Amino acid sequence: MADPIVFAEGLHKSFGDTHALRGLDLSVPRGTVCGVLGPNGAGKTTAVRILATLSDPDAGHARIAGYDVVRDAGKVRARIGLAGQHAAVDEKLTGRGNLRMFGRLSHLSRRQAHRRADELLERFGLMDAADRQVTGYSGGMRRRLDLITSLILRPEVLFLDEPTTGLDPRSRGEIWDNVRELVADGTTVLLTTQYLDEADQLADDIAVVDHGQVIATGTPDELKATIGDRLDVVLEDPAALSQAATVLKALAGTDPTMTGADRLSVALPDGSFRLADIVRELDRAEVAAADVRLRRPTLDEVFLRLTDRKESVR
Ligand SMILES: Nc1ncnc2c1ncn2[C@@H]1O[C@H](COP(=O)(O)OP(=O)(O)OP(=O)(O)O)[C@@H](O)[C@H]1O
Ligand SMILES: [Mg+2]
Repeated sequence: MADPIVFAEGLHKSFGDTHALRGLDLSVPRGTVCGVLGPNGAGKTTAVRILATLSDPDAGHARIAGYDVVRDAGKVRARIGLAGQHAAVDEKLTGRGNLRMFGRLSHLSRRQAHRRADELLERFGLMDAADRQVTGYSGGMRRRLDLITSLILRPEVLFLDEPTTGLDPRSRGEIWDNVRELVADGTTVLLTTQYLDEADQLADDIAVVDHGQVIATGTPDELKATIGDRLDVVLEDPAALSQAATVLKALAGTDPTMTGADRLSVALPDGSFRLADIVRELDRAEVAAADVRLRRPTLDEVFLRLTDRKESVR
């Protein structure tokens, strides 16, 4: 297999007593999207900042396109783009003004900076707002401008730190489309997110981070497969709820969750349950079910299960 374009091994980083990273490993093949998924404080931004050469690790090492992020920081910077968690654009400038300024800061000539600014505004649908001050931009437009400023130098690797946090569904969809376009052009993307559907939509591979470590990796489907099936039961009579809960607990070995006045859901430990057996057990306990369904878990359920403080790896 070709060398991964983003590679990190054993990254550690502390801030005083806070161990933000405790041995984080990551490997991203060229041309793919890696979703780094984790709750608040998991260490996502800390990892991105180290990979983007903005901060040095206390221990461990990382390479981008074969270049060490500490020793060869200049070569790394020439190959990456970063849209940070908090928009970095200048409020007082226009969209076009921001892009031109970033172009100049990235050592493009005046002409090149102007040309690149227009190309990006056109391609990512911000031309209409190009000459308006960023102060008047919506949150979605701001994030989009931030994203395209990170594209000035046509990066091989793009880091997006929570690119759609706080955006409405439509703006999120637009950013997703932009990311897909970039990937189609061959850009490798590493994005952090707390939204499971975002990772499901965009990522080829997901790394779930908690307490500064990767606690699970895989494709969205592989991760869903790790926690077995879910069983959803809808009762004909809500009065039978506790009776039904007893039956499900006996089957699954864990307490089911109430998902409505007349319904329960539970994770089954493995794929060995057959619908017929479940229905028979409910019948035997004289619980009338309106609907019994076995399904794959959602990525949300996987994430909650994996990052559950009780079950997390320390
Ligand atoms: N500059 C800093 N000084 C002190 N503590 C920090 C600093 N940066 C991060 N931390 C701490 O390190 C831990 C990891 O933070 P980090 O920002 O990497 O998390 P995150 O996964 O990006 O979270 P979020 O989803 O909230 O953005 C947190 O406990 C945070 O408070
Ligand atoms: Mg963060």
